[in-house]
Amino acid sequence: MNSYRIAVVGATGAVGQEILRTLERRNFPVSLLKPLASSRSVGKSVEFNGAKVQIEELRASAFEGIDFALFSAGATRSREYAEACKKAGAVMIDNSSAFRMKDDVPLVVPEINPGDLKKHHGIISVPNCSAIILGVPLWPLHQAAGIERIIVSTYQSASGAGAQAMAELESQARAHATGQPIKREIFPHQIAFNVFSHNTAIAENGYNEEENKVIEETRKIFHEPNLPIVATCIRVPVLRAHSESIVIETKRDLSPEEAREILSKAPGVKVVDSREKNHFPMPLEASGQHDVLVGRIRRDLSHPRGLALFVSGDQLLKGAAWNAVQIMEYLVGKS
Ligand SMILES: NC(=O)c1ccc[n+]([C@@H]2O[C@H](COP(=O)([O-])OP(=O)(O)OC[C@H]3O[C@@H](n4cnc5c(N)ncnc54)[C@H](OP(=O)(O)O)[C@@H]3O)[C@@H](O)[C@H]2O)c1
Repeated sequence: MNSYRIAVVGATGAVGQEILRTLERRNFPVSLLKPLASSRSVGKSVEFNGAKVQIEELRASAFEGIDFALFSAGATRSREYAEACKKAGAVMIDNSSAFRMKDDVPLVVPEINPGDLKKHHGIISVPNCSAIILGVPLWPLHQAAGIERIIVSTYQSASGAGAQAMAELESQARAHATGQPIKREIFPHQIAFNVFSHNTAIAENGYNEEENKVIEETRKIFHEPNLPIVATCIRVPVLRAHSESIVIETKRDLSPEEAREILSKAPGVKVVDSREKNHFPMPLEASGQHDVLVGRIRRDLSHPRGLALFVSGDQLLKGAAWNAVQIMEYLVGKS
C-alpha cells in the first residue's frame, strides 16, 4: 500500500489535534507527519502513533515533498500558503472558509457530493461545520422526497470557536462555582450559563456570517443554488458537538416512519429516536462519534408536507477533522 507525507497546519489547535487522532484511528498510511503551527509552538511537540513529533513553524518551504496539507489555522493562513502548497504539488484540504465559495474549489461532504472531488485543482474545501451536520441527514431525505425549504436553528458548542474558547467555558464555570469574577477574553459575552447569537459579524442582510455560510454552503454542496433556507445560529454553553433543530418542507409527503427508515440506512447518520425513553440526540453522546445523531423525527403540524428533526454532531470530527480525512481517503482510494 502507498503511504503519504502529510502536513497538518494548525496541529496544536482543537481541529488539528482531532486530525492527528483521526489519522491514527483510521490507520491512515502516513510515511511522514509534519505538524505545523505558529512561532509560539516552536519547541513543542505533538504525539503521533506513540511518538513525539517536533512542531515546525509554518513557512512556504514546509510544503516541499508533501502529498497532502490539511489546513486548520484560520482563513488568513490558508490564503497565505495556498500558492506554496500548489508549487510544492501538495493537495490542500482546507477546513477554513477561505476558498469554500470559489467556483473552481470543490466543497465536499463525502456522503453527499464525493463526485465533486474529481474537479479539484489542488484545493478542496471542507464546509462549515454546521452546514455539514445539517447536510448529512438531510441529503437522503432530499433524494427521497425533494426538500423545498429548510428552517434550521443551531445550538453551537464553545469548541466551535477553538481550543481557547473551550477553555474559557471551563474557566467561567469554575469561577462561577467558586464565587470568583468571570473573565471574558474569547467570546463577546459570558458563555457559561448563557446563550447568545453566534459571535460572527452581522451582514447587510441581517444574518450573521455563520448563518450565511450555512445557507450558501448547503446550496453549493446540494447543487441547489436556489434552495430556500432560513438559519439562526446560536452559541450555547456546551463544550463539544453542535445540535440543530431542523424543519423541512418536501415536494412529496414524507411520513416520520419513512424518514426514520431512510435515515436508519443512510451513511454517516445514526438514528437516536426513543419516544418511550425520551432519549434523543445530545451533544454529550455525539462527542467523539463520526456519525451525526438524528431524532425527534415528527410531523411539522403547521405544514401538510413538513417534517421536524433534531440532530447532534461532533463538529470537531464530522464538522472538520473526520470530513477532511474522509476526503483524503477518497482521494487515495481507501474508502
Ligand atoms: N473548532 C471547530 O469546531 C472548527 C470546525 C470547522 C472548521 N474550523 C476551522 O478550523 C480552523 C482552526 O480552528 P480551531 O478551532 O482548531 O482553532 P484553534 O484551536 O484556535 O487552533 C488554531 C491553530 O492555528 C494555529 N495558528 C494560529 N495562528 C497561526 C499562524 N500565524 N501561523 C501558523 N499557525 C497558526 C495555532 O497554532 P499555535 O498553537 O501555535 O497558536 C493552532 O494550531 C479555523 O479556520 C476554523 O474556522 C474549526
